[in-house]
Amino acid sequence: MPYTLTVNGRAASVDVPADMPLLWVIRDVLNLKGTKFGCGMAQCGACTIHLDGEPTRACVTPVSAVGAKKITTIEGLSADATHPVQQAWLANDVPQCGYCQAGQIMSAAALLAKKADPSDDDIDAAMTGNLCRCGTYLRIRAAIHDAAARSRTSRRAAAAPATTPAAAAK
Ligand code: FES
Ligand code: FES
Repeated sequence: MPYTLTVNGRAASVDVPADMPLLWVIRDVLNLKGTKFGCGMAQCGACTIHLDGEPTRACVTPVSAVGAKKITTIEGLSADATHPVQQAWLANDVPQCGYCQAGQIMSAAALLAKKADPSDDDIDAAMTGNLCRCGTYLRIRAAIHDAAARSRTSRRAAAAPATTPAAAAK
C-alpha cells in the first residue's frame, strides 16, 4: 500500500505492506540506518524514534499506524550533531560499542523536550526501557544532566539582550 510519511521534516512516499514495522521502512526502504534492531519486541529500546515527539519503538509500530504523525529518527535530531543531547553524549564519552545509543539519545531528547531539568528519578523512569549491554547507564545519566545544563545556557544566551560594541564600552 502507498503511504506518505513525514520523516525528519521531509515527505517520503513508500509502497509497503500495512503491517510492515516502521523500523524496516526506516532502515530498508528509506535507508536510514541509524535506528537499530535489537529485540524486535519492544523490550530493548534500540529502535526508538519519535512520533510527534513521543519516544516510540519502531519495531512494533506498523507503518499503517503512523498516519500524519511526524517521524524523527536519529538522523533528524540535528543536521550536524549540535543537538544538546548529542553534544553531551560526545562530551561525556557515553557510548561503548554504540549499538544501543541512537535509541538512548532519542529517549533522552524526548525526556528533555518535556522536562527541562529532570531529576535522577525522572531520568531513570524515562530511560528504563532502553537497555545497554555495555552498562553505560551512569554516563547516560550524567550526559542527560549535562544536556539539560547546555540547553539552559543556550536559552539564557538567546534571551539575553544584545549588547552593542558601543554599549559594552560604557
Ligand atoms: S528492537 Fe525495538 S525495542 Fe528492541
Ligand atoms: S553501548 Fe554497547 S549496548 Fe549500549
